[in-house]
Amino acid sequence: MSHPAAAQVPEGVPRDAAAWWRSAAIYQVYPRSFADGNGDGVGDLVGIRSHLGYLRDLGVDAIWFSPWYPSPMADAGYDVADYRDIDPAFGTLAEAEALIADAHTRGIRIIVDIVPNHCSDAHPWFREALAAGRGSAVRELFWFRDGRGEHGELPPNNWTSIFGGPAWTRVPDGQWYLHLFAPEQPDFNWANPKVREEFEDILRFWFQRGVDGVRIDSAALCEKDPALHDFDQAMPPYPHPYSDRDSTHEIYRSWRRIADSFAPPRALIGEIWLQDTERFIKYLRPDEMHTAFNFDFLAAPWDAAAFHSTIDATLAAHAPVSAPATWVLSNHDVFRHVTRYGREDTSFTHDHDHRRRQTGAPTDVALGSRRARAATLLSLGLPGSAYIYQGEELGLGEVEDIPDEQRQDPLFARTSGANPGRDGCRVPLPWSGKESPFGFSPDGAVAGPWLPQPASWRYLTVEAQQGDPASMLEFYRAALRIRRIHPALGDGSMIWLEAPADVLAFRRDPGFTCVINMSTLPAPLPVHGEILIASGPLADGMLPPDTAVWLATT
Ligand code: NOJ
Repeated sequence: MSHPAAAQVPEGVPRDAAAWWRSAAIYQVYPRSFADGNGDGVGDLVGIRSHLGYLRDLGVDAIWFSPWYPSPMADAGYDVADYRDIDPAFGTLAEAEALIADAHTRGIRIIVDIVPNHCSDAHPWFREALAAGRGSAVRELFWFRDGRGEHGELPPNNWTSIFGGPAWTRVPDGQWYLHLFAPEQPDFNWANPKVREEFEDILRFWFQRGVDGVRIDSAALCEKDPALHDFDQAMPPYPHPYSDRDSTHEIYRSWRRIADSFAPPRALIGEIWLQDTERFIKYLRPDEMHTAFNFDFLAAPWDAAAFHSTIDATLAAHAPVSAPATWVLSNHDVFRHVTRYGREDTSFTHDHDHRRRQTGAPTDVALGSRRARAATLLSLGLPGSAYIYQGEELGLGEVEDIPDEQRQDPLFARTSGANPGRDGCRVPLPWSGKESPFGFSPDGAVAGPWLPQPASWRYLTVEAQQGDPASMLEFYRAALRIRRIHPALGDGSMIWLEAPADVLAFRRDPGFTCVINMSTLPAPLPVHGEILIASGPLADGMLPPDTAVWLATT
């Protein structure tokens, strides 16, 4: 295997400054689990700041922070009590400002998570709404309704929560309020102009603090059918009573005007889970968002035809709106891909039953890691921007033996355990040492990590991997280094090349070819010059199964 000489990552010089979001490698930090600076077992901003050098050396262009705002943490911070401050467990607003400035001096951009569909039940507006009672103006900021049934004892309609159970909770005066997620996450009423003004002001607040872009949580859910009709599976999919309603686009058109009013313009990145590609892509029209997560790619099983078709469909869909594609393998909501790819069922679906069946399924970790490395070269080699979820650069797998009493994800409790939840991909990172907390917390920490770390992670710490050219970490560093300086990589186009069955090969100009072998037989390489990087050792010049390579080609 050959690696190019280590190229120096320029400090303070972001690549492609004009439209950085078209090419960026974006690293997702889940603040609770990245690094704990004060020893309370929960990650924080001090911990993140002390590891910015690690992220610079890794070679990422931007960091996306999952929510860091004050929150009762009913859904790990996606229940926001104050959109303009930092949770005391994580630090202070002044520390966030210093962190943004520190990252910028290292040439790393910052993306914060905005949660517009719902807030926390501890948000002052919701508290006021509860206190003010039925008919009050402040209840109009949410969806309060009387119930059905003789005494209003039934929820106003049949909608169910995405976390299981009804989407309505009754308050002491007898009214009900809507929550598409947990009861602690009341949905905002986006038909109310005050909600719109508030979020536009929140955007300006963070943009004025130097934030380069926002990730928009549950972006397609904000608008609701004002009549709150029942949801009927048998009905045509559109209009849907609470997902992807046409009026949603107006929200993001006005957000785009705000993003464009800053110099340089800020980026909008949507979390949009929609099956229908044509409807998905509407959010990326030139006057709406800049990019959105590509969940079809993430969900694809380990199968060349499936990858080929999802890549084709993605590029074809993005072309007419001139938006760059994104490539995502993992995030804080899904099974880590080292585990997924080491199983018989390599796909991902949100289905509760799928998650239950997958938990504890036999896993070949070596196979999963091999495929994960190959998938990394694929996703970093394709046209557009790419996301890296913290810990994937260490090859971490899903942690599936978290004791039930330590599970924190509301998905677990609200489905009575039918869905084991997402804690397994949120376990605090291992940095150093031979036992938990593996350098996640400082020496003398008063509390253990908020979720238990597997003992086997001693082999996967940053300390254990750095300097070892065969490690996942050094592999990511090398691939990101090439991606950052190679003129063919990032934004642009690609063309498929002829390849043997179940082998995918594509070329990008100038002079770059990526080949991934998803078959069970070694595959010949196309005519090439230097091997820029390979995800595993080649065998007699052939590309082994579950391996990928980047080639210099003419
Ligand atoms: C999507 C987020 O990624 C997930 O973690 C969260 O639970 C829901 N939105 C609700 O905010």
